[in-house]
Amino acid sequence: MINIALPKGRLGNQVYSMFEKAGFDCPGIMEKNRKLVFENPDAGVRYFWVKPVDVAVYVERGAADIGVAGKDVILETEPDVYELMDLGLGKCRMAVAAPEGFRDTRSRTLRVATKFSNIARDYYASMDRDIDIIHLNGSIELAPIMGLSDVIVDIVETGNTLRANKLEVVEYFYNISARLIANKSAFRFKYEGIEAIAKAMESMAGKQEE
Ligand code: PRP
Repeated sequence: MINIALPKGRLGNQVYSMFEKAGFDCPGIMEKNRKLVFENPDAGVRYFWVKPVDVAVYVERGAADIGVAGKDVILETEPDVYELMDLGLGKCRMAVAAPEGFRDTRSRTLRVATKFSNIARDYYASMDRDIDIIHLNGSIELAPIMGLSDVIVDIVETGNTLRANKLEVVEYFYNISARLIANKSAFRFKYEGIEAIAKAMESMAGKQEE
């Protein structure tokens, strides 16, 4: 049995649909209830839903053999896992954004609000810019509006949230998408099962690009 951690939410539904089309369906998994674990012994898979930011934790520690995590979370937490492939789903970009017309004069420490503290720290360190990180857990766009920060570092997908809050992108600096990741020892000991899933997913990802 291959244990698979799926990210709860819209991305997770798209990801599961890809597993399903790849031949690894699981009855009942899309039914609306509070159940978290679903298995299909015939297909040799057991799925469980976790918060998107927790997928890499389950995979790194081996509670899941494989899982699907956003490149944003992978860059932020640097889990010790194998990144097997880009699924081509959940595409968005990591960006610095600020109130319209903002210019960084570098005259004082820049206050940066973000869920991605490590990514933001590395980004500004590479530019030799002193910053004060304000770590938040959501609704990051609110921070500059309320004067909590000067800029934000966050993911931008459609740009709707920025526009609705009169913010604009200062710079895009990473392309983000969902990645299939594997636990390192599971990749050795359950190689055939994991490889079969990865191959089937690869052909599905190819079809999506077309
Ligand atoms: C994410 C991100 C932005 C928004 C970007 O937030 O933090 O706020 O999506 O998407 P857009 O460019 O299509 O508007 P999420 O929905 O995960 O909620 P959060 O604010 O609670 O983090």
